[in-house]
Amino acid sequence: MRLLLAAAALVLLAAAAPGWKWALPDGVAPPPVPAANGMSAAKVELGRRLFYDADLSSDGTLACSSCHEQRHAFADSVATRPGVNGEPGLRNAPGLANVAWLDRLTFANPHATSLEVHAPTPLTGENPVEMGMKGKEDEFARRLGADACYRRMFARAFPERDGRIDLTTVAAALAAFQRTITSWNSPYDRFRRGERGALSPLAQEGERLFRVRGCAACHSGPHLTDMDYHRLEEVRARDPGLIGQTGLSGDAGRFRTPSLRNAELTGPWWHDGTARSLEEAIGRHPDPVAAEDVPALVAFLHGLTDPHFVTDPRLARPVKACGRTL
Ligand code: HEC
Ligand code: HEC
Repeated sequence: MRLLLAAAALVLLAAAAPGWKWALPDGVAPPPVPAANGMSAAKVELGRRLFYDADLSSDGTLACSSCHEQRHAFADSVATRPGVNGEPGLRNAPGLANVAWLDRLTFANPHATSLEVHAPTPLTGENPVEMGMKGKEDEFARRLGADACYRRMFARAFPERDGRIDLTTVAAALAAFQRTITSWNSPYDRFRRGERGALSPLAQEGERLFRVRGCAACHSGPHLTDMDYHRLEEVRARDPGLIGQTGLSGDAGRFRTPSLRNAELTGPWWHDGTARSLEEAIGRHPDPVAAEDVPALVAFLHGLTDPHFVTDPRLARPVKACGRTL
């Protein structure tokens, strides 16, 4: 009884975590959150505004949302998008559904283990240059600090840092917002929750084939990725994959298994965006799939599309901040 009461008290404490309530279906536990960057409504609201703000790029032309569009499940629709000044992009932007649960971010960077660690990469990274803020980190304070509403939002989000505006707080707020980019309402999710009719018979056959044909060995778990790196094709000089970070010859040509959630909306596919259809992406794996299995597999992949997610107003470009229209 005492134990039960203690457990109940713990649950209450968790539920009463200040300022933030997860919107997740029953049975889905909240994602891990680093102790140094607790969730709060103020931080998420700030991170959302920043995610959609092109002032975060050197020439004011690119926001995170330029390459991560909600209607494409937070991917975009081009193979690779140039960064500021037209610097060519190297890789295809992945979708961000449930990115809070992934601890190996991007196609080939084992050091990007959290959203906080990753967020500075698009802002200040040089290979390739995306938002071009390397060496211009003071600009965050100058540009955002010029706006009284942003100053208020940073003060509310980071009271323990006196509302400081710098690369660290910008990255922390972006990470908090991205943790709310959750997708659990695809037909596949409903099917897993016991709604047998949620997937068509063809998609159910695809789900079976996905398991028996070995897809699920790598595209495993609720996010359909083992978060591990595999070499599926010959090594290409332009992008040799994981070896670029680790320097280990065995890592040449290895890329992280992408999540397949909302894959229907994130095309073109493959780390370089060169697969123009899901059929083509499936066909590029080294173990050939029988042609008659492909339609069912594709129907299953379509069953991973969450229509609620791509229209959820909480994730859309904010229309207001501090009570005023943006
Ligand atoms: C110019 C296009 C572009 C912009 C702008 C951009 N990204 Fe990305 N994003 C990409 C690409 C391309 C990748 C894959 C990079 C790789 O694998 O090396 C990526 C990967 C990611 C990932 C990893 C997703 C996963 O599944 O592992 C996250 C998270 C992310 N971006 C967040 C952001 C945030 C936050 C911003 C704004 C600060 C941003 N991105 C701006 C193109 C962009
Ligand atoms: C050995 C591990 C492994 C197996 C088995 C596997 N995949 Fe993949 N899959 C990957 C990796 C790694 C990538 C990324 C390749 C790249 O971009 O270079 C990928 C990419 C994909 C993509 C493109 C996703 C995107 O967003 O670009 C689809 C679709 C896909 N796989 C479906 C399948 C299906 C269906 C099967 C079973 C027939 C399967 N995979 C089996 C590891 C695997």
